[in-house]
Amino acid sequence: MQALLEFAREVREGLGKPGQKELPSKYLYDELGTALFEAITVLPEYGLTRAGDRLLRRYSPDILERLPPPVVVAELGSGSGRKTRWILEALARREPVTYFPIDLSASALVRCEQGLADLPSISVVGLEVPYLDGIRQASSRRRRDQTLLVLFLGSNIGNFDRPAADVFLLELRQCMKPGDALLLATDLEKPVADLILAYDDPAGVTAAFNLNLLGRINRELGGDFVLRNFAHEARWNAKERRIEMHLRSTRKQTVTIRAAEFTCTLGEGETIWTEACHKYRVEEIPGMATRAGFVCEAQWVDGEWPFAENLWIAASPPPANA
Ligand code: AVJ
Repeated sequence: MQALLEFAREVREGLGKPGQKELPSKYLYDELGTALFEAITVLPEYGLTRAGDRLLRRYSPDILERLPPPVVVAELGSGSGRKTRWILEALARREPVTYFPIDLSASALVRCEQGLADLPSISVVGLEVPYLDGIRQASSRRRRDQTLLVLFLGSNIGNFDRPAADVFLLELRQCMKPGDALLLATDLEKPVADLILAYDDPAGVTAAFNLNLLGRINRELGGDFVLRNFAHEARWNAKERRIEMHLRSTRKQTVTIRAAEFTCTLGEGETIWTEACHKYRVEEIPGMATRAGFVCEAQWVDGEWPFAENLWIAASPPPANA
């Protein structure tokens, strides 16, 4: 109920904005949205997930070599556990492993546990709390001699705009101890045509993923969006260096959302902005690390789809809150 009220409030706020209407991207991931995202990760045009997978499969031993045992692992967002298995397997060859996936979705945590069930030497402790609460819990549950390795994979950081990413990473640093590590995945800039295809695939999976947000509002908040009156759009914003997903109204229309006690009118061609996916340059990553109180220890870049895994070590002492 609490969650629904908040959903209603954020929808009312986002669609009530005087300029660009928007909806928070976190609401893309209900059960159907999560399934559609899983389908996106296997699209030939979406190279991001496979690139991250290749890097972790190939370089997990090198990554772990830089972290003295014993290590405990915590992950921001648990997903299916598929991205994580290479690191966990490599670590399990060296020492017993405790892994804390952190996710607000109980079903995601269950999927993650099931996905790793064939690795009996890894004990999975799901934490159904917000990211930073989860990191604080994982950090306080470890033994004093254990290094905490935080995983933020899949370029999920890309949903934050650059200033918000700085704030988040600094807050994350303040939940960690000097010598702890962050493995941060970042999708890199690449030809715009490749990016547009990755976010507007010809089979229409990403379009379905995006439109499902309106479907979810209909289902959960009693909205009357007609999904066929909207078109998926992926745009490159060169100034902010990000892909933006929008839903374009193909006609003038009025929408009512009962549970939000809200009605709005969309003009023909007007868009609702639903997601931002920031792209990075390898050279900007060390500066991000420093601003957040880390040292960028190493970077690994995929040769096929420009994408980087970045290993950051928490510096001491932590900077005061900016
Ligand atoms: C899950 C945020 C990393 O930005 O590429 C994929 C989400 N949206 N296709 C991304 C997404 C459309 C994805 N992240």
